[in-house]
Order: sequence, then structure tokens, then C-alpha cells
Amino acid sequence: MAMIIRASLALFSRNSRCSKVSCKLSEIGGGRLFSCSSPLFTCSVTAAFTNMSPPKKICILGSGNWGSAIAKIVGNNVTKFDQFDNEVKMYVYEEMIDGKKLTEIINTTHENVKYLPGKKLPSNVVAVPDVLEAAHDADVLIFVIPHQFVKRVCQPLAGKLKPNTVGISLIKGFDLKEGGGILLISHLIKELVNIPVSVLMGANLAGEVADEKFCETTIGCRDIEIGRMYRDLIQTDYFRVVVVDDVEAVEVCGALKNIVATGAGFIDGLGYGDNTKAAVIRLGLMEMIKFCEVFYPGSKLGTFFESCGVADLITTCYGGRNRRVAEAFVKTGKTIEELEKEMLNGQKLQGPFTALEVNHMLKQKGMEERFPLFTAIHQICLKELPPPGMIDCIRNHPEHMCTFDQQHTSLVNSE
Ligand SMILES: NC(=O)c1ccc[n+]([C@@H]2O[C@H](COP(=O)([O-])OP(=O)(O)OC[C@H]3O[C@@H](n4cnc5c(N)ncnc54)[C@H](O)[C@@H]3O)[C@@H](O)[C@H]2O)c1
Repeated sequence: MAMIIRASLALFSRNSRCSKVSCKLSEIGGGRLFSCSSPLFTCSVTAAFTNMSPPKKICILGSGNWGSAIAKIVGNNVTKFDQFDNEVKMYVYEEMIDGKKLTEIINTTHENVKYLPGKKLPSNVVAVPDVLEAAHDADVLIFVIPHQFVKRVCQPLAGKLKPNTVGISLIKGFDLKEGGGILLISHLIKELVNIPVSVLMGANLAGEVADEKFCETTIGCRDIEIGRMYRDLIQTDYFRVVVVDDVEAVEVCGALKNIVATGAGFIDGLGYGDNTKAAVIRLGLMEMIKFCEVFYPGSKLGTFFESCGVADLITTCYGGRNRRVAEAFVKTGKTIEELEKEMLNGQKLQGPFTALEVNHMLKQKGMEERFPLFTAIHQICLKELPPPGMIDCIRNHPEHMCTFDQQHTSLVNSE
């Protein structure tokens, strides 16, 4: 762990000299709107929503591992604030489990036996199998479905939502744009249902959050009042929220870290150690920063030091399904699709698909060589490159071509 922290600091100090997504040390955290709740914020938000508008109805779209963990938090939190209606609807993609409908099981046992077994959901969380019925009267929509299903879940909602509905996406990944390029999932949702969409990303493995083990998260939201409302809805004493205004960078971090975690899994599968994995994490972070620099100019370096950045990268490269499946991929020689079916019990993998989406755009723009780690990970997933190619990739990574003289010159020039 010390190694990773050192690697991150080295990265920061180097990046502050070399990268265009740059800032001074004192500016780290500069995109924050606010972090810990203060009584003042809590009172003012409560007043704003109780005095001026009826309680907000909340709907969670998705009920997988993360969707269920967040339902546990939101179901409890709505009862603590007058600004929220006490019932939370949760859209559940209907499945039969031992001859019974999953929605019926959730509504009678208050447990999502398939995706979050062993954890009780609050009884005010109501499972609804019809997406329109779940969402049509909601004031706040929480999108938490695997990114592969966003279109089919959102399409029935187009033109059917209340006028002032707002949304927040917890979804990691991109969508392929017709005619080329990629689209952020929050932008896709906005296109499909025409509501403002914030994002929440962080070092939040669902099982640990459901066990109420302490962690932090990052909300990207440009509207301070809405940001406060999300914080009240989602923050607990074990799940701490920081709200920043650098929305795109928060979302890009959440998507790209799953590619890096896939690379970390390859390293584990090849039998390398923590030093090697730290190199993958560091180079992965450099490519994430570069990606924002190239495709989302104006992103802030400080965002990479929030929970959505370096913290999520570390947790996903050590825990999580992408790393686990990638390790098995190297050890068994099976395909990603086979392993997803065998190992995940209906849960969806994000890393290899995000690598494919990113590669689609990089290839089109002739930029594969500028992102060699993302490119190698994608090629390994497709079996176009044997897994040991990861080591050649990191050995020859352009980040190692930055010479002392160049660094020294940039440092002198930046002072
Ligand atoms: N699990 C985590 O630890 C975690 C943490 C942070 C963010 N996320 C992100 O949250 C998002 C949701 O992940 P998750 O872990 O809740 O899901 P999951 O992979 O655990 O579950 C899959 C979900 O997809 C649904 N589904 C299956 N087929 C479907 C279909 N045809 N149409 C619609 N829905 C269908 C299932 O009902 C289930 O709810 C992903 O983008 C993921 O990256 C996950």
C-alpha cells in the first residue's frame, strides 16, 4: 500500500510538471463544492425542500449488486429528511428464482437473494418490475444498471417523466456513438430522457458498502442545491460524500478504472507481484489523466485525488470482479464471455467492454499508441495479444521515455 501511495505521489509531482490537466498543490480539491455535512447545510436544504415543495419521490433504476447496496442506504435515508417521500421504488428486471418472481421475493423477504444475498433492504424499498410504473412519478431517478442495458431501460421513459425530474448515474462505462466516438453514460441518459444528470463514482465495492464498512464517494454535480439534496439522500456515517463540479472527469474516472483493473487482473494471473501491479496502477492513472486532457479539456487534476480517482483505482485493482475475472482469464485460457457466465451469477463485467468502447474511438482517431496500456488490455481481452504482452507494454510505456532532463526543464519552466 505504501508503494501505491508513493507511486501516486510520484505521479502527482511528475504530472504537475508535465501534464496539461495541471494545477498547483494548493489547488487540489479546488473543484469541491462541499464535503462533510454541516448542520447549516442540512437545515437549509431541509427548509428549501419542505417549505417550498412536496416531498421528493425517489426511484432507483436497477437492482444488481450496487443497486441493492445503494437501495439499502437510500431506503434508510429518506426516512430521516422531510424533503423525501418515505417510499422508494426500485425497478427490478424480472427474473424467476426457484420458481418465484424476484420482485415478489424482494417485497416479501426484503432481500435481493440473487444480487445481494444475506443483506436486508429497508421495507420501504418496493420492487417494481415495470420501469415506467416505477419511474413515472419520481422527482429523483438513481440510474444503477449495467451500462449495456441503459438504452432498453431508458427508452420507455422518454417523454413520460415529470417536468422537474433530476437524475444521478452510478453507472460505469461508455456508449458507442453512432458514426464514431464514445458517449458518457450520463450524456446518453440525458439524450434519452431529457433530464439533468449528475454522477456518483468512488471506491465503493458494493459488498463492503452493504456491510457498512467505512468508505468515501464522489458526486459530480454542477448545481449546489441539487448536490446538497443528493448528499442528504446518500451520505451516512460510514459512506461519506464529497461533491465536486468536475462532472465529466468524475464519470470518466469511474469508467476507465475498470480497464486498468482488468490489466491488474492479468498481472495477478501471470504471477507477478504488488510492485508490478503498482506500475500498472500508476501508468493506468497517467492514461486516465491523459484521456481527460485530450477528450475532456478543462478537467481538474484534483478530481483524480478524490475517491472517484486514485482510491477507486486502487480498490478495483485489488478487489472487484474485473480483476478477478481477468486473473482467471490468464490462468484458464477461457474467453471473457465464458468466465462472466461461469463466475458472476448474472452480474455484468465492465472492464473488457469499456476497453472495447475506448479502443473503438482511439482506433478511429489514430490514437492507440498514445494509450498503450488501454490498447494492450483490449487486445489481450480479444486474444489478439498474449497476456505476457502486458509486461512488454508497461516496460516500453512512453511514461518511461520522459527523461530527467525533460522533467528538470519543465520543472524549471513551471516555476
Ligand atoms: N457492484 C459494485 O461493486 C459496483 C460499485 C460501483 C459501481 N458499480 C456500477 O453500477 C452499475 C450496476 O452494477 P451492479 O453491480 O448493480 O449490477 P450487477 O452486475 O450486479 O447486476 C446485473 C443487473 O442487470 C440486470 N439485468 C440483467 N439483464 C437485464 C436486461 N436485459 N435489462 C435490464 N437489466 C438487466 C439484473 O437484473 C441486475 O440487476 C454498473 O455500471 C457497475 O459498474 C458497481
